[in-house]
Amino acid sequence: MAEYQIAVIAGDGIGPEVTREAMKVLDAAADIWSFRTRRSVYPFGTEHYLATKEIFPDTAFEEVKHKQAIFLGAIGDPRVPVGLIEYGIIAKMRFELDLYVNLRPIKLFDEALCPLKDKGPQDVDMIIVRENTEDAYVGAHGFTHKGQSTEVATQTMVYTRAGVERVMRYSFELARTRPRKQLTLIDKANAVRAQDLWTRTFADVSKEYPDIKTDHAYIDAACMWMVKNPEWFDVAVTTNLFGDIITDLGAMIQGGMGIAASGNLHPGQVSLFEPIHGSAPKHAGKNVSSPVAAIMAVSMMLDYLGEKAASVAIETTVAELLRSKRLKGVQTGVHPTNEVGDMVVRELGARAAVRV
Ligand code: IPM
Ligand code: MG
Repeated sequence: MAEYQIAVIAGDGIGPEVTREAMKVLDAAADIWSFRTRRSVYPFGTEHYLATKEIFPDTAFEEVKHKQAIFLGAIGDPRVPVGLIEYGIIAKMRFELDLYVNLRPIKLFDEALCPLKDKGPQDVDMIIVRENTEDAYVGAHGFTHKGQSTEVATQTMVYTRAGVERVMRYSFELARTRPRKQLTLIDKANAVRAQDLWTRTFADVSKEYPDIKTDHAYIDAACMWMVKNPEWFDVAVTTNLFGDIITDLGAMIQGGMGIAASGNLHPGQVSLFEPIHGSAPKHAGKNVSSPVAAIMAVSMMLDYLGEKAASVAIETTVAELLRSKRLKGVQTGVHPTNEVGDMVVRELGARAAVRV
């Protein structure tokens, strides 16, 4: 029986409640599809930091490196300085584990969940590939004359040929697995001239993929198209910062932050799965947040681990529950958080029983 070593960091705010539901679904899937998970649960996050002054100790980081996957609930809390926990936990893993692909599917399961007029599941089915180790996120910033009226603040956007090329190659390969075989490059090379590297690399790599239709949109126009004609997108590759922004927009057109999941990948190595949403401190502990995104992150994690049948079944089950209106994934408070995992588990079991 396959056994997977998984690190679990439930984190801040609503992180623990959505993680608990996601783990119920993971356990049910393990029972049905006969695999085992060995989970190491880490307490890192704001609460732990406030109590111990520890963010992510080296010993734990070394352990996490040797897992097959990491599940993260949510990170961020207004009680600590902005960015401290984000850079100490999420960004640390993305950078030090070299998780260069941030895979963010935007798939609408039910028309009723979409705020766009006359758009349905056939119109919203794309994957944004967000570069995950470069750009403004490398942290190269500084202030001179801090606090004075002459203050200057700078932050450098960093792109490397190797970094851009590998995420593009991943995106072309991904486009190849999809029926439409289309890849859109999203950048702002007309204003951020350093992104000319993206333009040139895309042109070079595309020569190796003559079967993939290529397309280009500047990020501002891409935001407009995603609302006006989301059906134009299949796979899109973009920079770290633009990918961060456009996937919040994407989450909304698929039904809200309570649904959207992501995988931070380094193919072949330990990779990290998380809902796209944040820690939503104002909802924390109230049992009103949607754990659907966290459950979908489990589906992505199982796909990555090779448990394809379990992954697809979780996605299909969630999609069906949303479509049949039994599960209102987005509306805070519609279902108590702690009932959603049970509902998905029951349905998963029922579907598996029919299959057998
Ligand atoms: C995300 C988040 C993070 C990011 C934050 C928490 C640093 O918004 O994963 O989309 O900007 O990457
Ligand atoms: Mg974000």
